[in-house]
Amino acid sequence: MNNLPLAKTPPMGWNSWNSFGSNISEELIRNIADKLVELGLKDAGYEYVVIDDFWSELERDKQGRLVADKKKFPAGIKPLADYVHSKGLKFGIYSCAGTHTCDGYPGSFEHEYVDAATFAEWGVDYLKYDYCYKPVHSVGENLYKRMGMALRSCGRDIVFSVCNWDCDDVWRWIRESGAHLYRSTGDIQDNWQSIKSIAESQLDRECYGGTYCWNDMDMLVVGMNGKGDNDFVSNVAGRLAGCTDVQYKTHFALWAMMNSPLIIGCDLRKISAEALNLLSNREVIAINQDPEGRGPYHIRHWCNPDHVFALIKPLCGGDYAIGMFNLSDGASEMSLQFFDIGLPYFSGYGLSFHECFSGEDEGVFTERRAIKLEPHDCRIYRCKLVRV
Ligand code: GLA
Repeated sequence: MNNLPLAKTPPMGWNSWNSFGSNISEELIRNIADKLVELGLKDAGYEYVVIDDFWSELERDKQGRLVADKKKFPAGIKPLADYVHSKGLKFGIYSCAGTHTCDGYPGSFEHEYVDAATFAEWGVDYLKYDYCYKPVHSVGENLYKRMGMALRSCGRDIVFSVCNWDCDDVWRWIRESGAHLYRSTGDIQDNWQSIKSIAESQLDRECYGGTYCWNDMDMLVVGMNGKGDNDFVSNVAGRLAGCTDVQYKTHFALWAMMNSPLIIGCDLRKISAEALNLLSNREVIAINQDPEGRGPYHIRHWCNPDHVFALIKPLCGGDYAIGMFNLSDGASEMSLQFFDIGLPYFSGYGLSFHECFSGEDEGVFTERRAIKLEPHDCRIYRCKLVRV
């Protein structure tokens, strides 16, 4: 342990669930680790390789310890974690606060300390901790505090990624449980409606996430393009239908601006150039990973239509990130009055606008900024205050 705080900025990495569901194996995880490095994603900041549900045997061993599925992970978990570490990456695994995981494998309920010790022994750096099969009379807050404490006692730095889907007013007590991130929504699906409803459901929650305990809006679906092979999701029509490039761009922009962890969920072995380019956008990632870790606030101005809003996030060093979003289904003019973000006309200042997707400097504006946005599109600006 290095006694430094974990998750100073939102964790970044990859998780197996979205694209693979039960179809995971040692070979797949090794390939993904290789790809994170080869594609430059590790250099862009993605560091955790996380195995989701379906990794264990259905029974614990005689000592009550979890055992890796002998067919999927014949050598066990430790050599795989070692491999991931040899690539300069970190390794994550999954368990559940209830008696079973969501797919019926052993959960950590009443085994929190032995499981934390096992994970530490295997070299685990990140634990995603779900909420299925919670005994009705046990209190979730207590179960998360228990695993939080078990992880703190296990002798290894392990990021604690809570996944209770926004139940039990989680934002009220989660920070004290020791969690480093917490899932605040139901499961994301690879379609626009899912992205839009998750993002809008979190607009009033921005103040609850922050440094060392982030509001997790779920894994990214960027790059899935309707090709997810998750047998537990794909059997309901439309769930994995896919999005357009513009919708994926806006999804990534929202997650980045709203300080969500950036956990890739697509198959990196087959990623398209567009998706890779988007996920590698250093300027957008820098906004998400800003060292001050301030959340954004949102402005829905009366003169803009529904689902059209701006996000404003103060950055370290005095810059501001300003996102302008049109989640509606029609093209829209949208305007941001600088008065509403603390800059009255007679201040003597304007804002310079640099757009992070096009890389263009769009000039200095005073009083207001108005742009036209196509349906589901957005702009992400890094702005500086300048004397005018
Ligand atoms: C829950 C979680 C998902 C995934 C599955 C695995 O639904 O919210 O992210 O971990 O369980 O079964």
